Amino acid sequence: MASVADCLTVSAELSDVSDTARLDTELLLAAVLGKSRTWLFTWPEYNLSEEEQARFAEFFARRRAGEPVAYILGEREFWSLPFFVDASTLIPRPDTELLVSCIVDLPIPKQRVLDLGTGTGAIALALASELSDAVIVAVDKSPEAVKLALRNQARLGFTNVEILQSDWYSALGDQHFDVIVANPPYIDEKDTHLGRGDVRFEPRSALVAADKGLADIRHIIVHAVEHLNDGGTLLIEHGWQQDERVAEILAGKGFLEIRTFQDLGGNNRATLGRWYE
Ligand SMILES: C[S@@+](CC[C@H](N)C(=O)[O-])C[C@H]1O[C@@H](n2cnc3c(N)ncnc32)[C@H](O)[C@@H]1O
Repeated sequence: MASVADCLTVSAELSDVSDTARLDTELLLAAVLGKSRTWLFTWPEYNLSEEEQARFAEFFARRRAGEPVAYILGEREFWSLPFFVDASTLIPRPDTELLVSCIVDLPIPKQRVLDLGTGTGAIALALASELSDAVIVAVDKSPEAVKLALRNQARLGFTNVEILQSDWYSALGDQHFDVIVANPPYIDEKDTHLGRGDVRFEPRSALVAADKGLADIRHIIVHAVEHLNDGGTLLIEHGWQQDERVAEILAGKGFLEIRTFQDLGGNNRATLGRWYE
């Protein structure tokens, strides 16, 4: 027989694969029991049924093999909203909330918004929760990611978002937007971080771009001018050492009022430019 307290003592076995071994164990156990983490602290003496023990053992073994907690649970919170996640796309990161807060807080036109490479739909649906009058279009090249984003839309119930499959702008015709936002793949294929931690389980198509990670960013900037309204804003997430290159590409294409914003760790994480015809 194993109690909640017994189960939590095994967390040290995760220390090789996770910097948050104790938290991961609590999250997995809370999910198995259908309870909150607070409940675990209140009822350490609760004895798990055989079925619960078997399920916890399975979850724990998957985490020990390196699989991200979000994939094991099938869920991750973003902008305080619950999102289904799966191996078709990136697990939404807290740092990406920066893009949402920039668009919500800045005094810019935002009636029509395009989210490129929407993945789970995280940015588009978070924006929909804040901008109920806006029309938001969200695209992804991966049909599985589009399916996932549609599931998240159905769950969250925001009807002002249109989600479609598109290779960047290709399915958008001559639609124009006040804001184009993107968290595209931007990791260099030679980056050694790709062989470590949670990213090993995420699809390369969501992470890696050619030309030292800048190829998709460049494509998005170059073609944004065909889809931005006069005075429109382009906001792109990028690697913490890519801000100067991104700003150069924006300036080279004629964008003005270029600004870089920092993420929760103080790293340069997103750069914005305004487009005037
Ligand atoms: C870094 S993930 C971002 C996902 C989500 N926006 C987020 O912030 O969590 C990049 C996304 O871009 C999509 N993507 C990659 N190449 C694309 C392309 N050519 N056209 C559209 N989407 C693409 C991937 O499938 C993936 O979902």
